[in-house]
Amino acid sequence: MAYYSRVGDVPRTRHTQHRDTSREDRRLYREELMGEEGFSSDSSLLYHRGVPSAVVDAGTWELPDQARRPNHPLLPRHLRLHDLAVPGGADAVTGRRQVLANHDVRIGYVVTGTDPSPLYRDAIGDEVVFVEAGSGAVETVFGTVPYRAGDLVVVPRATTHRWVPAEPSSLYAIEATGHVAPPKRYLSRYGQLLEHAPYCERDLHGPTAPLLVEGPQAEEPVDVLVKHRTSAGVVGTRHTLATHPFDVVGWDGCLYPYTLNVEDFMPITGKVHQPPPVHQVLEGWNFVICAFLPRKVDYHPLAVPVPYYHSNVDSDEVMFYVGGDYEARKGSGIGLGSVSLHPGGFPHGPQPEAIEGSLGATEFHESAVMVDTFAPLELGEAAADVDDPAYAWTWAGGPVPPPG
Ligand SMILES: [Fe+2]
Repeated sequence: MAYYSRVGDVPRTRHTQHRDTSREDRRLYREELMGEEGFSSDSSLLYHRGVPSAVVDAGTWELPDQARRPNHPLLPRHLRLHDLAVPGGADAVTGRRQVLANHDVRIGYVVTGTDPSPLYRDAIGDEVVFVEAGSGAVETVFGTVPYRAGDLVVVPRATTHRWVPAEPSSLYAIEATGHVAPPKRYLSRYGQLLEHAPYCERDLHGPTAPLLVEGPQAEEPVDVLVKHRTSAGVVGTRHTLATHPFDVVGWDGCLYPYTLNVEDFMPITGKVHQPPPVHQVLEGWNFVICAFLPRKVDYHPLAVPVPYYHSNVDSDEVMFYVGGDYEARKGSGIGLGSVSLHPGGFPHGPQPEAIEGSLGATEFHESAVMVDTFAPLELGEAAADVDDPAYAWTWAGGPVPPPG
């Protein structure tokens, strides 16, 4: 995030004395620089009442099942995520079920209740959480970020935060290894979003006020769950902090959480079919995030509005279908809440009858969020529970082979 923001009480000059003048002892605030890529990329300066590194205890946080299995034999997959919902809802952080994952990105899904999540910090990378349904707030050390359906909630690596759903919320969590950012081709050489970009700075919504926990709760030890990596893979640690981390009276800089609602993404359309990169929203290390949204479609008199068959040979493609009736997938069993995985090495495209059906269409009303990875994805533990075994054979219209 290259856009400077300033919230709350910060000193006129950085790295100088900044004191709490409401207290008799005029105690110093504790300045923390939170920065990326070894002090060589985006950063913010935060001013804490307490000491941000004051840990008084640590233990193991047993993560939800992180087991993965290879997509072998190689098959396209259809996973019905709505079947993962449980009565009463699950926790927004600890209740995530892992659907697909590789070294670069992990995709999980949860339908929450209304209880706040524990305090949480992802030390592996930025998180982009797509809100399929529901609303609430993400409380962070930078302040509160409200969320609603259609938001991509971007939480930078190691930001202490918690989810506070106002209503049950369906969350599709894309957990990066490293950072996510707008595609470079949308940016000026100084980082401004260019005129041809499908969204602009006005569409990004960060915190606007500090979030301070007051009273006895502010001075009591509190647990923060930290997701991190070891040679054993993704693991969790519970840190007990001496005081509550929501003690930042002000901050400024270019690193902070924000939301971008897909409604504000302006689809790029053309006379003939436009390739998936026009739908790109964000990019991470070895993966991209795209949004396919309601739009006018191709206006050549002989246009074929649905995609051609494509072998995107370097990518595994993950589509999450969130709105409308996806034209190209008609007849495949794909519906709302479905995820399709089309792995590299496998040509895919519309159901044959969907091509004829699309001719003459002037607009599509569908919505989907896509993650394309440049390394093969493996199936998370949740995938087996919601796998549609018939999907791989739907283009051929053939019989379903027996299990095994
Ligand atoms: Fe595709």
